[in-house]
Amino acid sequence: MASTNGSIETAVVVRPGSDRDLGAVVRIQQHCPETAQWPLEDYRGYPLLVALIGAKYAGFCSWRQSAPDEAEILNVAVDPLWRRRGVGSALLNAVVERAHGDIFLEVAEPNAPAIALYRKLGWVEAGFRPGYYNHGTVNAVVMKKRSW
Ligand SMILES: CC(C)(COP(=O)(O)OP(=O)(O)OC[C@H]1O[C@@H](n2cnc3c(N)ncnc32)[C@H](O)[C@@H]1OP(=O)(O)O)[C@@H](O)C(=O)NCCC(=O)NCCS
Repeated sequence: MASTNGSIETAVVVRPGSDRDLGAVVRIQQHCPETAQWPLEDYRGYPLLVALIGAKYAGFCSWRQSAPDEAEILNVAVDPLWRRRGVGSALLNAVVERAHGDIFLEVAEPNAPAIALYRKLGWVEAGFRPGYYNHGTVNAVVMKKRSW
């Protein structure tokens, strides 16, 4: 799509990830200190979605169906170069399309950008875990959304 200033805007494409994508996932993760820093191998065995803008990896989301009627976001991050372009929204909406039942996530209370994103997409607060992160120093907010 051509934007009003004449440049070409490329859409965000979300697709299932595979082992081939894990190097890019870990590189994005390393640029996102707010998100859990998983070893590459830990992503194997969970459903993974990757977001691309053109040929560039822009973000990823790892999630799991933890019970027949319950799912969980495990890790979600967008490369700082590609933020505020709808990448995080596209990833979360793709999970909501695929998961069954209530979907839960935990987010650090000071992580205002992430909480703003979840609220905008209709996630609601479902719990509070005092001292959940950083050796008891950072609280977690539990949020949930029903799958479509
Ligand atoms: C949180 C994060 C995933 C958002 O990704 P993103 O691609 O920038 O999000 P989107 O472009 O889809 O944003 C959608 C909406 O979320 C809200 N939002 C996103 N980033 C925000 C910020 N920095 N400040 C305030 N609101 C923000 C806004 O309402 C935004 O809509 P708008 O751009 O029209 O105002 C990204 O900032 C990130 O990767 N952070 C580091 C990792 C992290 O915190 N992961 C979550 C762990 S629980």
